[in-house]
Amino acid sequence: MPSRIANHSCIAVPAHAPAAPALAALVLWALGATAPAHAAAPAALESADGMVVTAQHLASEAGAAILRQGGNAVDAAVAVGYALAVTHPCCGNLGGGGFMTIHLSSGKNTFINFREKAPLAARADMFLDSHGSPIGDKSVNGFLAAGVPGTVLGLETARREYGTLPRSTLMAAAIRLAQDGFILTRGDVDALEAGTTEFRKRPNVAAIFLHQGAPYKPGERLVQTQLAATLRAISADGEKAFYQGHIADTVAAAARADGGLLTTQDFAAYSVTESAPLYCSYRGYTVLSAPPPSSGGVTLCEMLQVLEGYPLGTLGFHSSASVHLMTEAMRHAYRDRNTYLGDPAFVDNPIERLLSKHHTDEIRALIQPHRATPSSALDTGTAAAEKATTTHYSIVDVRGNVVSATYTINDDFGAKVIAGNTGFFLNDEMDDFTAKPGAANMFGLVQGKANAIAPGKRPLSSMTPTIVLKDGKPVLVLGSPGGARIITTVLEIIVNIIDHSMTLQEAVDAPRIHHQWLPDTLAGEPYALSADTVRSLTEMGYHVVPLEPWGTGNAAEAIGVAPADWVQAKALGFPRPGVLYGASDSRAPAGSAAHP
Ligand code: DON
Repeated sequence: MPSRIANHSCIAVPAHAPAAPALAALVLWALGATAPAHAAAPAALESADGMVVTAQHLASEAGAAILRQGGNAVDAAVAVGYALAVTHPCCGNLGGGGFMTIHLSSGKNTFINFREKAPLAARADMFLDSHGSPIGDKSVNGFLAAGVPGTVLGLETARREYGTLPRSTLMAAAIRLAQDGFILTRGDVDALEAGTTEFRKRPNVAAIFLHQGAPYKPGERLVQTQLAATLRAISADGEKAFYQGHIADTVAAAARADGGLLTTQDFAAYSVTESAPLYCSYRGYTVLSAPPPSSGGVTLCEMLQVLEGYPLGTLGFHSSASVHLMTEAMRHAYRDRNTYLGDPAFVDNPIERLLSKHHTDEIRALIQPHRATPSSALDTGTAAAEKATTTHYSIVDVRGNVVSATYTINDDFGAKVIAGNTGFFLNDEMDDFTAKPGAANMFGLVQGKANAIAPGKRPLSSMTPTIVLKDGKPVLVLGSPGGARIITTVLEIIVNIIDHSMTLQEAVDAPRIHHQWLPDTLAGEPYALSADTVRSLTEMGYHVVPLEPWGTGNAAEAIGVAPADWVQAKALGFPRPGVLYGASDSRAPAGSAAHP
């Protein structure tokens, strides 16, 4: 647990506050007035030549190898996307979708949306029984749970627009890892084991992911020849191989036989979008993140803008005062998220209003100094549905191109179904929609009409692939899986670095808190809140509960780009200026940072 957290409340202006003139900061720093005593965290990996951080070490290596061959960050991101589909099957995928936030060394920032779409035959009430009650399992397991996958077109679009190497080069590692197999580590096996019961229900899944009917053990080799054939077809013919012909036909036939809706027309009609990322500023930094159909960027920016009005650094990491402010910011922002946001192709997202100074002031005015605001006092709306698992990766190349990518099949192993011999899991992203406005989903979350199911609509997401810039140059690249927790995870890491000057690894590993408006509980990971902090917060009216650690399911993958300016680098907790730091979350035992 990070320890420089101690409440320096006697220090009026922390050296890292951007308001402090650089010289004053330097003097304070030199005097050691606020010099952080860093926690006993492992050092982040350091490099001057590029960095790849993912939740599975072989995928990180595949990305680093592409950088070594002269590929750029987008090339590496495509290679990692395909490699994770092989080596991290819970979450990496061909059968899901996601988002990529990109900063190019030219200064261009862009965002690729390859979120799944609801099948054309989908209906708003498709997960309700004849009494109008949600049928829980149908939106989670089986072919009916699947949206039209976006990953292959998303990766291809990124490669075509911004990559430099041929598809066959970028896919070679994934094909090799699938065809020859790879040796499973304890971390890999732990992730696989979560699927054992579901794997047993489907012979074509059991044949791949169980070893003679039993869960795989560390040291054994996982070979996926069917997936290798699918990857080879994509490598040869690009997205056509996935969205037309054998693969789409096989998925459609399996869906038809199993009560699903996906058809070949759904595959043929699938499209991705490219737009500007969502922007906001925080204490002199520019935050680029995911716009709708992700709620991530809007919610993150709403929280950051509220928190900018308070001296979090001075108040201290997870002191009752800073937890109070962060929780109130979370409560209000998630209320807005859950009430107003949805696929921009279908609903008007009031982003300008939610991120206006007026709305920020409104929220601050509602935060009482020492009192929790009951969520029931905020006018109603309804919330969004999430759970485990997804995966994020961050990449920076030597030229300063940056990719922050999060993609998902939603639940662990998605809908837990593989169509015929295609070798990849289909997502259960239909569960991210509102099954019934106002009704809590299986994870206790409540959703709104803006996120109701409609044919061709993309479900609202929480994925928050984010890049933080200072003076137009990247300083931080990050994102996380974790369903509704994703956005507060990204918030906490940014605050840990900008306000608390933690090192990158400390910031990523530090225990986290989470509030999502409903349920009205403040959840803390083990060691996130001391007993007397819990007591103070309880006296303020908070209902404090444990936040169950989700391991890989909530593991962030981050890169720090230390500014060349020594003072700026120190203020962000980077030990040395002008280098890259890579931190794979200690929660992800199979993850790693790698450099070329
Ligand atoms: O798009 C979303 O927000 C969810 N499908 C993400 C699910 C997730 O992160 C699960 N991970 N632990």
